[in-house]
Formats: sequence, structure tokens, C-alpha cells
Amino acid sequence: MADGSIEVYESEGRRFPPSAEFAAAALTNDRSLYDEADADFEAFWARQARELLTWSKDFDTILEWDLPFAKWFPGGELNVSENCLDRHVAAGRGDRVAYHFEGEPGDTRTITYADLLADVERFANVLKGLGLRKGDRLAIYMPMIPELPVAMLACTRIGVAHSVIFGGFSPDAITDRCVDAEAKVIITADAGYRRGEPSALKPNVDAALEVGAPSVEHVIVVDRCGTDPMMVDGRDHWWHDLMAEAEPRCPAEPMDAEQLLYLLYTSGTTAKPKGIMHTTGGYLTQVAFTHKYVFDLRPDTDVYWCAADIGWVTGHSYIVYGPLTNGCTSVMYEGTPDTPLPEHRDGDRADWRKDRLWDIIERYGVTQLYTAPTAIRTFMKWGDEWPDAHDLSTLRVLGTVGEPINPEAWMWYHRHIGRESCPIVDTWWQTETGGHMITPLPGVTTTKPGTATNPIPGVYAEVVDDDGNAVTEGGGYLTITKPWPSMLRGIWGDEDRYRDTYWSTYEGRYFAGDGARVDDDGYIWILGRVDDVMNVSGHRISTSEVESALVDHPAVAEAAVVGATDEITGQAIVGYVILRGTASASDDLREEIRQHVAKKLGATARPKAVFLVPDLPKTRSGKIMRRLLRDVADGHDLGDTTTLADPNVVEAIRAGAEAGDDD
Ligand code: WTA
Repeated sequence: MADGSIEVYESEGRRFPPSAEFAAAALTNDRSLYDEADADFEAFWARQARELLTWSKDFDTILEWDLPFAKWFPGGELNVSENCLDRHVAAGRGDRVAYHFEGEPGDTRTITYADLLADVERFANVLKGLGLRKGDRLAIYMPMIPELPVAMLACTRIGVAHSVIFGGFSPDAITDRCVDAEAKVIITADAGYRRGEPSALKPNVDAALEVGAPSVEHVIVVDRCGTDPMMVDGRDHWWHDLMAEAEPRCPAEPMDAEQLLYLLYTSGTTAKPKGIMHTTGGYLTQVAFTHKYVFDLRPDTDVYWCAADIGWVTGHSYIVYGPLTNGCTSVMYEGTPDTPLPEHRDGDRADWRKDRLWDIIERYGVTQLYTAPTAIRTFMKWGDEWPDAHDLSTLRVLGTVGEPINPEAWMWYHRHIGRESCPIVDTWWQTETGGHMITPLPGVTTTKPGTATNPIPGVYAEVVDDDGNAVTEGGGYLTITKPWPSMLRGIWGDEDRYRDTYWSTYEGRYFAGDGARVDDDGYIWILGRVDDVMNVSGHRISTSEVESALVDHPAVAEAAVVGATDEITGQAIVGYVILRGTASASDDLREEIRQHVAKKLGATARPKAVFLVPDLPKTRSGKIMRRLLRDVADGHDLGDTTTLADPNVVEAIRAGAEAGDDD
């Protein structure tokens, strides 16, 4: 039917329909939340805090703002796990499903709010029994299984801050994070199922502790895959043993609104990850608000699915804290989208069915799906036939997050998954922002493919030029102009870095690190990072982190890393490496160097390609010109190379790159 039945929107020279059309049934155009917030943004957030959350003591002040330090709702007291669990059970909704869990091998568990509360109370007693007290920190390194939210919520019940470490990270990452946070306990599992096999976790914890994290006294291990890991006497404990011995009741302790809730480490422009600090009352207010309005939530009937991993902020805010605060039912899936149920695993892996996600949506009747552009582009590549063969008619809202979505992927998502009847919410936010910041609201915003549109009610953003002047049309840098409830409160143990990274580039503004453009409708298009942070499949990795891992290899003398444009993953890591005199170049060595990075940082940081080069392009002052390396990687014209100390270097690299181009 081409575009016959719906109005066509012109965007970037392409023609697309506006989402107001496909959201027509629900289109309210109701701007009242924006108007209310614009009249008094503090009062607006105070109303949300009181209406969406249960406080054991009301706050006396809404916001104390001593730039760049914010305190939201000081004087107020509440408990996160009580907001997520007890109050729903007390209201008679204990039988409502909190999580429909599906493991990769097809095992399922239905966990009600009452079940979850019972486990959280017991596990909070386990933590107390191991000596954990309010203000302590612990680390969590787990697969996507229900024990992971249980562990997080048990922490919040007694005021212990968690630091979740993504299960794909390496032992080094565990050591660094445990040392930085002085974590007393690590909660892990023997392994988790990934791509059809158990993927070991406990051995990585052992390796991390061998290197040394002296603060860690205990390790708690869930037996997920029965892989029989080594257990150190006195240090390591089975989850099921501790749970069997624990008392069942543990009252929720009221916490100050500004009590530390969690640390989540994220990459910055240096090799050392930053421990982003989130606190209690403001964080929970904004994630509950956005989860409710951005996904047009109907908690009594919806089956919501955020297909992220809890190891990233998206999972913290939109698998655990937002959905549970709002008392809704979620799907939680352990594995990867290209691993079908065991009965569908015929022949080679390459021949396996590619419809696990669509199958899950159909079986559970999923109403909202929240995923990343990388995943969407991968589904496009696998082919329309997989989603087209399933009944996806229960879906009402589709979400995307993590990187800019190209209009083609947006349209594919809209047609093949949303069947042209679901609004798409393109949500821009960051680990640092805690919750959604810039996104359409279903039924309210007329969307356009490729833009996150405008800030949510109560959040204020501006694109500025190099001098910090607001840009009303055209390109610049994304800044936030007012404090927001779920903003980071700092970087753990590094106040100066907090000030420098976010608040010193443009006076009085939060600098997001992203480039952005304002179009003639005043819509914001996020263009990606402008600093030395790469975005690979929606995951942030710093160039210097990968460079340090490269030079850690004994054959490597010097290295430079850039994010090259990649059709599927957004950016791909490309490393340029100068070998030490004693090493000789070979394909095996290149491969070994790639794997070395994976070993140091985890598989997400493994370079897609490593090029062995005679030299690196440097300015006369010795600074590596990454722009040129990016141009080489992208196959672009090199532009101005006159500032190079030795212009011939780039040509040599380019010739080498073309010759050695592999995966
Ligand atoms: C990018 C993920 C374009 C951006 C929640 C940001 C996006 C970084 C979008 C944060 C989006 C996230 N459109 N770019 N909708 N969402 N980004 O901390 O560069 O893992 O700065 O948080 O991802 O990544 P983080």
C-alpha cells in the first residue's frame, strides 16, 4: 500500500509517515504535564514524588541546588524495596506476576510480587548475617536470572549500595570495580546460559580475587547451570544454603531520600571507569514517572518487556526499579536473541531459527518492547520472515535506546514489529542521567524517524555552540540546563572528576558528551559522542581503555583506537598497533592481540580489527590524530593533513589497512 493511506513526512530527503497517525487511537495531544512542569518544575517533580511513591516521612524541601551538587527531597524518608514490593502486596496485588522469567534453555518461572518479596526479605537477612550494614557496598556479577533483582532489592531494603558488574566483563573489570568501591561481598552464579552453553562466571570472580580485592570477605554463588565450580572454604557460600537458613522476615528500613542506592561503572575519556552514584528518592521518582508515561503504562493488564541486560543502566531503571515501583508485569529473558528453544536448534548454529524474541512476545502477549538500534538492525539483516510469521498484535508501544537510530531501522521497526500501529519512543538518556531525558510521549508527541524529539516534562535541554551559546537551529553540543531528580550525585571517590567531566565545559550546564542538532521543528537529533568514548552496540567503551589493554600485550609498543562506522553495531572498535622491534607481524599475532583485549576488558571491547602499522599519524606536538584514523577506517577522504609531522604515515597506514582488511 506504499504510503497511500497515511500522510508522508519529509525527513533528511526521505519520506516517512508521522507517528501521530499510527498513534491516532490514543492521540491525546495532551500537553498538560509539560505546562505544569514549565510553570514550576520543582513543584511538578514534588507532585510526582508524592503520587508515584510511598514515603515513610514526607520531605520538607524539594530541591537543594548547590551547583553541581543536588539534593532532591531532603528530609524525606522511604525504602526502595518497600515501594517496589511491600506496598503492592499490602494493596492486595501479591498474586500479580512481577516477572515471567524465561531461561535460554526454555525453563520458565512465574514470580509474583509476593514471591519476590519473600525472597528479598530472606536474602536481606542473608546479607545482614554476613555482616553487611547500611552504607556498605557489594558487587553483583550475575546472569539474567530472577536472583539478580532479588539481590539488588535486598540491598535496598537494608541500605547497602550495589555495584552491578555486567556478566560479559573480565576478571580485571571485577577487581577494579571491587577495589574502587571497597565491596565487601560479591554475589555471582556458577555460570549463565548464553548462546546455547553455560558461560562461566564464578571462575572469573576467583581470578579477580586472586589478583586482589582485599575488601571482599564473602562470595555468594547461585547454582544456575550445575557446573560445579570451585568453592573456597569460609569465603564462598551457596545461595540456596544461605537462603535455607535465613529468617523469613526482614522489615524495610526507612532511608534518607539521598541515601546511596547504587554505583554503576561506566566508561569515560580515560582508562579508569567512573563509579556513577545514584541515590534513592529522586532516582525512583524519575524512573517511575518515565516508565509510566513514556511506555503509556496500563499496569493492570500490560506485559512489558525491556530486552536489555540488568548489567547496564537500562536494566537497572527499566527492568528493575521503574517497572516494580509501578507494580507492572515484566518479561525477563536470560539469553541471546539468536538462541532458539532447544527443540528448534537443528543443524548448524547458522541455520538456527532467528525468532526467539518474536516467539516470546507472542507467547506472553507482550505489550511494550524496549530494545536497542543494534538489535533492530540485526533483526533486519536476519530477514522480515521471522517477525512476520508471528502474531505481534498485542504490542502497543515500541522503545529504542542506546545510540542514534537510523530512519531505515526506525521504519522497519515500525512496519514489521509495530505493524504500523505502535508509536516508537526513541529515548535519549545516560548512565549519568539515571532515567529518560529526551523522548516522545505516546499519543502526545508527533514523532519523526531518527530523532528523540524533545525533553520530557520537567527536564530542560539546550544544544549549544563552542562558546556555550544556545543554538536554535543547526548543530552543536547537548547540554542540560536544570537539575533533574535522577541525576548522578557524583563519581564515587572523585569529586574533581565529576566537576571536570560534566560541569566545567559550559558554565552552569551539564555537558552530556553528545553532539546534537536542532531541526526546523525544534526537534533534537542526537549525533553521537563527541569525546573519546565509543558506542558499540549501545555500550560505552573508551578509546583509552582499549588502548591500555592493547599496550598491555607484550608485543605492542604503541596503539591508537578509534570507533569506525559500522552498519550493525553503530560503531566498531578498530585498533592501530605499532609492534615492538622484537615482534614480527602475522595474522596470528593480530588475532592474539584482539583476544588479549577481550581477556582484559571483556568480549564487548574486543576490536573488530587490529591493524599493524609502521607509525601513527601525529601532530608536530606528538598528539595522535584520531580523526585521520577514523577517516581511514571509514574509507573517507583524508581532508587536511598539513598539521601532520609526517604526512606519508597516513598513506602507509591506509595501504596497510586496505591490504589487511579482514572481518
Ligand atoms: C547514547 C544508555 C542517540 C548517547 C541509556 C549517550 C543515544 C550514551 C540514545 C549513553 C538515543 C543513548 N539516541 N544516542 N536514544 N540513548 N544514546 O550511559 O551517546 O550506556 O551519551 O546509557 O548512549 O550510554 P549509557
